[in-house]
Amino acid sequence: SGHTFEHPAGRVPIAGDALHLRTGTPLSNVMRLAPSMGDIFEIRVFGQKFVFVQSAELAAELCDESRFRKALSPALEALREFVGDALFTAYDGEPNWQRAHDLLMPAFTKDSMRGYHTTMLDTAREMFDVWDAVDGPIDVTADMTKLTMETISRTAFSRDFGSFTSREVHPFVPAMIAALTTGMRKSSLDTIPGGKRIARKIDAENADHLAYVDELVDGLITDRRASGEERGDLLDLMLRTAHPQTGEKLDDVNIRHQILTFLVAGHETTSGALSFSLYYLSRHPDVLARAHAETDAILGPDPDAEPTFEQVPKFRYLRRILDEALRLWPTAPAFSRSPREETMLAGTYRMTPDDWALIILPLTHRDQRVWGEDADQFNPDRFLPQNSRGRAKNIYKPFGTGERACIGRQFALHEAILVLARILHRYEISGDPDYELRIDERLTIVPKGFRLELQPRTPSS
Ligand code: HEM
Repeated sequence: SGHTFEHPAGRVPIAGDALHLRTGTPLSNVMRLAPSMGDIFEIRVFGQKFVFVQSAELAAELCDESRFRKALSPALEALREFVGDALFTAYDGEPNWQRAHDLLMPAFTKDSMRGYHTTMLDTAREMFDVWDAVDGPIDVTADMTKLTMETISRTAFSRDFGSFTSREVHPFVPAMIAALTTGMRKSSLDTIPGGKRIARKIDAENADHLAYVDELVDGLITDRRASGEERGDLLDLMLRTAHPQTGEKLDDVNIRHQILTFLVAGHETTSGALSFSLYYLSRHPDVLARAHAETDAILGPDPDAEPTFEQVPKFRYLRRILDEALRLWPTAPAFSRSPREETMLAGTYRMTPDDWALIILPLTHRDQRVWGEDADQFNPDRFLPQNSRGRAKNIYKPFGTGERACIGRQFALHEAILVLARILHRYEISGDPDYELRIDERLTIVPKGFRLELQPRTPSS
C-alpha cells in the first residue's frame, strides 16, 4: 500500500541486504547509502520494506502530532516479546500506555530528580574509587554503561548490582541483554529459508536467560509487596498508586515489563551520550578548557566537591556539549512515524495508516539546509540562545517527539550533566590521538574501543 519511494539504483538493495545481515550495522549501512539517495528512500530487506527519512524538513513534518503518530518499527515490534505493552513498546492508543504514563509521569518531572540526586552522586563516587585504584586507560563505554545501569536499577527498584564494588559482573545484566536482543536477532529471520529453525534454536538458547530475568524481577515485586517496605522508588510508585481518574493499578506482569523497560531504555542511551561527549571533549581542547572553567566556577577548588541538586542546571556549557553530542550521535538513532489518516508527505508522497517511515536522526540532525555548512562539525555554541534563534522547529529530536517522547529525558540530562561535571572537575582527560571514532550498534549506538587516560586534577580557583 501507499507510495513506493525512491529505490537505491541497480543491485544496491541486494548488497544492502547482505551487508545488513553480515555486519549487523544497519545504521552505518543506511548512512553510507544516504548521500546517493533522496530525502526519503526505501530499502527492502528480505521482503520487509523500510522507509528512511534523511531531510530535516520531512522529519519535522512527520513530527506533526495532528497528522502523524508513533509507529513500531520491526525492531520495536520484536521487543514486545520481552516487554509487552510497557511504555516504550505500546502501540499508540493501547490502554496500558495511558494508564502507566499517567501513573509514572510524576516520577519524571524536573523536580522529582531531587529524589534521585544522591543516588546518582553515590554511584559516580563508586566509579571514581575504582578509577583511582587502577593504572592505565579506562574503557569509557564499558564504565559509563556500568554507571548508568547501577543508577537506574537503584532508582527504579533500589537494587544494587555491585558493578563497581564486586569483581564479577552480576549475572542479571548479561542475561537481560541476551533476552533483549533475542527478538531482534529473530526479527530478520522470518522470511529467509531455514529461518524458522534458526529462530527455534535462538529461542531455546534464550529460555534460561528469560526465565532468570523474569524470576528476579518478579521476586523483587513479591518481596516488596510482602515486606510492605517503602523505598520511594519507581517500584513503590507502581505498586501503590492508583490512577487518579480511574482508580486502576498496574498488574504485576505489566509492572515487570515496565521495570525491564526502564532498565533497558534508561541506561545504554545515557551511557552513549556520556561517552560521545567525553570523546568530543578529548578532541577539542578549546571546548575542554571552557568545560573545566565552568566546573571550577561552580564547584570551586575542592576536586571532590559534589554539585547540589540546584547546581546541576547551572552547568549551561556542559549542557550544550551534551546537546551537541546528541545532535551528531543521537544514541537512540531512529524512531518511526505513521500517518493517522491517508496523507501526502511534503505534498508528494502518499502515505496510508499502514505505512511508516523511520526518521534517521544522525542524518536529519546533520542536514546542512537547516544546520548550515558546518553541520558535521562539533560546535556546542550552536545551542547558544542567540545562535538557535530563527532555526526551524521540530528538527532537533534526540528524545523523540510529542506524547510518546522520552519520559526519562530529565533523568538522563540530570544524570549526564552531574557525572560530566564530576569527571571534568576531578580529572585531566586525554584520548589516544590515533583513535578513530567507530560506532558500536547495539540496541543503541555507543563509541567502540574508546579509551581515556585520567590524571588527578587540581581545579583552578
Ligand atoms: C522514549 C531517547 C534516556 C525511558 C524515548 C524515545 C527516544 C528516547 C528517541 C522515543 C522512541 C520512539 O518514538 O519510538 C532517549 C535518549 C536518552 C534516553 C537519547 C538518553 C540520553 C532515557 C531514560 C529513561 C528512558 C534515562 C528512563 C529512566 C524511556 C521510555 C520511553 C522513552 C519509558 C517510552 C515513552 C513512551 O512512549 O511513553 N527515549 N532516552 N529514556 N524513553 Fe528515553
